[in-house]
Amino acid sequence: MRKIHVSTKINGDPTEFLCEPDETLLDVLRDQLGMTGSKEGCGTGDCGACSVTVNGRLVCSCLVLGAEAEGAEVATIEGMAEGDQLHPLQRHFIENAALQCGICTPGILVAAKSLLEHNPDPTEEETRYWLAGNLCRCTGYDKIIRAVMAAGKEMREAS
Ligand code: FES
Ligand code: FES
Repeated sequence: MRKIHVSTKINGDPTEFLCEPDETLLDVLRDQLGMTGSKEGCGTGDCGACSVTVNGRLVCSCLVLGAEAEGAEVATIEGMAEGDQLHPLQRHFIENAALQCGICTPGILVAAKSLLEHNPDPTEEETRYWLAGNLCRCTGYDKIIRAVMAAGKEMREAS
């Protein structure tokens, strides 16, 4: 099959790649670009482990074609820290021990960042609702929610 040439921006960096017409953005990120932070938990849009944003919109990258990244701005977990400065969400996940095996963690961090961009002061209920599409098989939800709420508070106080 003839490959498609895609020009996009990933975490602010202009990026080009060739992909099959039916290749997912998740597979492109992981297999072609070596960005393995986004995980494949299900491949069917059910677990959120592959969460990224495309033009600011939170999506499951397993449900997006690589070709759809043409001309778009993609943000992945790899772009969350600034150099060796962790994002407040990442720091609060560590401080709250909000991860166990860590497979769900990149997707939850990306989704939580998107939440705080859309709603800087979410209630616990809004936070749980927003993250409902991100499954954690280690069932650490309370610590995850505490970490997101604490990061949101820190970010509000710093702004
Ligand atoms: S791998 Fe994409 S939602 Fe599960
Ligand atoms: S920490 Fe293991 S799946 Fe969430």
